[in-house]
Amino acid sequence: MTVRLVEPTLPSLRFHTTATPTLFDLGLSENPFPPLPSVLAAVNLALTQANRYPDFLPEELPRVIADHLGVSPDDVVVGAGATGVAMQVTRALGSGEILTSTPTFDGYPIMADMAGMTLVPVPLAPRGDQDLSAMRRAVNRRTALIVLCRPHNPTGTVLDAAAVGSFLAAIPQRVPVLLDEAYVEFLAPTDRLDIHTLLRRHPNLIVLRTFSKAYGLAGLRIGYCVGHGELIERIRRQQLPFGIPTTSVAAVRAAYAAGTELRDRVDHINRERELVRMSLRGCGIDVPRSSANFLYLPGPGVATALRRAGIKAKAYPDGSARIAVGDPAAGRAVHAALVDLR
Ligand SMILES: Cc1ncc(COP(=O)(O)O)c(C=O)c1O
Repeated sequence: MTVRLVEPTLPSLRFHTTATPTLFDLGLSENPFPPLPSVLAAVNLALTQANRYPDFLPEELPRVIADHLGVSPDDVVVGAGATGVAMQVTRALGSGEILTSTPTFDGYPIMADMAGMTLVPVPLAPRGDQDLSAMRRAVNRRTALIVLCRPHNPTGTVLDAAAVGSFLAAIPQRVPVLLDEAYVEFLAPTDRLDIHTLLRRHPNLIVLRTFSKAYGLAGLRIGYCVGHGELIERIRRQQLPFGIPTTSVAAVRAAYAAGTELRDRVDHINRERELVRMSLRGCGIDVPRSSANFLYLPGPGVATALRRAGIKAKAYPDGSARIAVGDPAAGRAVHAALVDLR
């Protein structure tokens, strides 16, 4: 099925003060599709009640998400994007060390700093995978939180399901593990983890998700985590009063109701990602297989070449770059910018 990008490039025409105008903004692993008309209509309707406060502490949104997932509403904590929820997690855990891979989602070093925690970065293995053995060895009595990303940002690689199970079994139960599944909807169903079983087995596990990526609602800031017992209660206690806008419930209900259309968009993005990956590998760039809506393009020189072509990417110190995928015109521009690099 062909899925049309209603406004393929216009929203990304963002101009900056640099000499080269930004023709494509691929720096934040955003979904290139604007919200579905049904989601926009639901949000607009909710805005007619904007003179009213939302729930003092969110009740309806956790219930809607919990129903969709088949878990208890008591096991769901919502927040301002996955970032807001992760901030609640770090605040709930206080001081100590956060163990995570590097590079990773930029938010983790920032949140560690804000929460007064020390980030312990564990380098990725050579093919871009998170190094679970090294992470296990780095756990000590100061470890207050471990973060795993599946798929990983920025490489898009996916930890083996059995390896995640063994890792969780080897971690002391007093150490919470945040499994960041921000991009889970881009995974093939057979590659997804059975979070129900994992959560039952591991009371120290918290699963983090977002409506920013596959659901394409990054600007509405809706995220949640799922966990159990005392740990999820501590995270819930960090909830900001009146912190979840009324529009969030409307958007999530409408997004869940539009599952098929959103699935088509995800399929389109995944197909486009494969086309771009193959075309770049054909140019000699060793792009790892990704299961998210972005590709990691190993350097050197990649980030600079993209910038010169007016393509905004997430740049890394060694010259590598991460680009969002999904817009065919942007994919062609990336190929044109890098075709002669190697
Ligand atoms: C791995 C990962 N986790 C969490 C987030 C935060 O997403 P948001 O705060 O938009 O829900 C991102 C955003 O890029 C991400 O890449």
